[in-house]
Amino acid sequence: MVYRDLRLLPVSGSGFVLLCVVLGAIRSYALELNLTDSEKATCLYAKWQMSFKIHYETTSKTNKTVSISDHGNVTYNGSICGDDQNGPKIAVQFGSSFSWIVNFTKEITTYSIDSISFSYNTGDNTTFPEAENKGIITVTDSVAIGIPLNYMFRCNSLSTLKKNDVIQQYWAVLVQAFVQNGTVSTKEFLCDKDKISTTVPPIIHTTVPSPTVTPSPKGRPEVGTYFVNNVNGTCLLATMGLQLNITQDKTVSVININPNTTDFTGSCHPQTALLRLNSSNINYLDFVFAVKNENQFYLKEVNISMNLGNGSVFSFVNNNLSYWGAPLGSSYMCNKEQTLLVSGTFQINTFDLRVQPFNVMEGKYSTAQDCSADDDNFLVPIAVGAALAGVLILVLLAYFIGLKPHHAEYEQF
Ligand SMILES: *[C@@H]1O[C@H](CO)[C@@H](O)[C@H](O)[C@H]1NC(C)=O
Ligand SMILES: *[C@@H]1O[C@H](CO)[C@@H](O)[C@H](O)[C@H]1NC(C)=O
Ligand SMILES: *[C@@H]1O[C@H](CO)[C@@H](O)[C@H](O)[C@H]1NC(C)=O
Ligand SMILES: *[C@@H]1O[C@H](CO)[C@@H](O)[C@H](O)[C@H]1NC(C)=O
Ligand SMILES: *[C@@H]1O[C@H](CO)[C@@H](O)[C@H](O)[C@H]1NC(C)=O
Ligand SMILES: *[C@@H]1O[C@H](CO)[C@@H](O)[C@H](O)[C@H]1NC(C)=O
Ligand SMILES: *[C@@H]1O[C@H](CO)[C@@H](O)[C@H](O)[C@H]1NC(C)=O
Ligand SMILES: *[C@@H]1O[C@H](CO)[C@@H](O)[C@H](O)[C@H]1NC(C)=O
Ligand SMILES: *[C@@H]1O[C@H](CO)[C@@H](O)[C@H](O)[C@H]1NC(C)=O
Ligand SMILES: *[C@@H]1O[C@H](CO)[C@@H](O)[C@H](O)[C@H]1NC(C)=O
Ligand SMILES: *[C@@H]1O[C@H](CO)[C@@H](O)[C@H](O)[C@H]1NC(C)=O
Ligand SMILES: *[C@@H]1O[C@H](CO)[C@@H](O)[C@H](O)[C@H]1NC(C)=O
Repeated sequence: MVYRDLRLLPVSGSGFVLLCVVLGAIRSYALELNLTDSEKATCLYAKWQMSFKIHYETTSKTNKTVSISDHGNVTYNGSICGDDQNGPKIAVQFGSSFSWIVNFTKEITTYSIDSISFSYNTGDNTTFPEAENKGIITVTDSVAIGIPLNYMFRCNSLSTLKKNDVIQQYWAVLVQAFVQNGTVSTKEFLCDKDKISTTVPPIIHTTVPSPTVTPSPKGRPEVGTYFVNNVNGTCLLATMGLQLNITQDKTVSVININPNTTDFTGSCHPQTALLRLNSSNINYLDFVFAVKNENQFYLKEVNISMNLGNGSVFSFVNNNLSYWGAPLGSSYMCNKEQTLLVSGTFQINTFDLRVQPFNVMEGKYSTAQDCSADDDNFLVPIAVGAALAGVLILVLLAYFIGLKPHHAEYEQF
């Protein structure tokens, strides 16, 4: 059961670039454990991201859901390299009332991630206010993923485990147990989802059910104008048509943002600026801008939480983006459709975009840097050079063609 959950179907069309973006998102919030034995040699290495959703019943008989993705103070107490009797174990404690344990087993040529246990304490009345039943609850999932010995297991794709009242999500997973000679392996064993998404997808729909796609997008999204004011007037301006493309549980949802029914707020600071959109189904969609190299602004972060209907909530943050770069004091413009890859499962298509997150004067956009300038930058000089060479040849040709008859005429005389 659970095994299958970890092999959620990928969506075709992702690729290497996408993977890089996912990887970029990882570093900042990743949990990382480098466990060493008594000789200080690495025996287990793991790096990953996870989040949890827990449902519980309150004293007033209503159901509540808490989401835990900021792990606060993390300790790895109880993590062991293992010995002849006990296998290796990753034990993580975060906050005051959560613990998470993974254990491993070894066979002759392979090792396995055996099971994942998650414990939470509903007696913690700050996390679980008004919980009806107080106490420590543990859910255990037997995962049973086999990996060849001396291979690093990698799974960038999102994996979901659902058991009882807990939904666990993992992504950007990198793990190797039974590390040999204290050196983590450079050989990687990819999870099935990654395997498919890193190769050019063959026609996979014949053997597996294809993702259900919501009715094809209703064309281009309408262009909306959003702004943020502070005491000095408008400090951030954005004009854009936005289309969200979210893949969750094998379902692709393409959602056009309707500016008429979307609210916006935000804030402006010298080094960062925030534009936050929300609507009836978008809890928040944050665009965070930052300054780099002292004189360039860019889109650094997208943070979203939205209801996809049917009680399922999609949340994601990537704070290591680098889009829409332009000099401070100017705006960034892109009229053609542009795709922001926020994660492997979430992209934003923008249309007729213009943004200026800093130094807005008198509520108006400053001169724009156009996105055509950042298309394959290195090709532009070549293209310009080629065009010039072409013009030169044409001029020369015209010159000689123009001259020929004259010569001929002169020779007749
Ligand atoms: C939505 O994303 C999926 C997967 O990344 C992709 O195959 C599809 O073409 C995208 N659709 C649009 C309209 O962007
Ligand atoms: C952000 O992404 C870049 C590559 O896109 C990478 O070099 C860098 O290490 C990442 N930084 C963080 C903090 O994840
Ligand atoms: C793990 O720690 C050991 C000892 O501190 C170090 O030599 C090794 O490079 C580390 N490995 C990784 C992958 O960080
Ligand atoms: C491990 O737990 C013990 C007891 O709870 C505590 O005293 C110790 O500081 C912890 N060690 C680390 C590295 O957190
Ligand atoms: C791993 O942990 C689970 C639950 O805590 C336990 O049932 C299982 O026996 C453990 N496996 C090993 C090999 O220790
Ligand atoms: C939480 O529990 C503590 C001690 O059990 C109690 O003092 C506190 O008032 C409780 N807080 C709430 C919000 O119920
Ligand atoms: C570990 O060291 C032993 C002896 O030095 C060697 O035979 C073996 O190939 C090494 N294994 C790896 C994975 O490097
Ligand atoms: C408002 O403008 C004044 C004068 O230009 C400047 O000193 C001040 O920092 C600005 N305040 C904000 C919040 O931007
Ligand atoms: C938004 O409002 C404008 C003017 O009221 C209207 O023309 C347009 O059709 C509306 N757009 C949508 C998507 O509802
Ligand atoms: C956006 O959020 C604000 C504050 O949370 C709320 O008052 C408003 O109704 C929301 N807008 C929409 C369209 O749901
Ligand atoms: C994303 O936004 C939510 C809601 O404001 C916030 O709680 C969360 O900390 C943000 N995440 C990051 C990484 O900034
Ligand atoms: C809504 O969720 C229920 C139970 O999770 C499921 O049976 C049903 O198919 C879902 N409906 C849609 C439209 O996704």
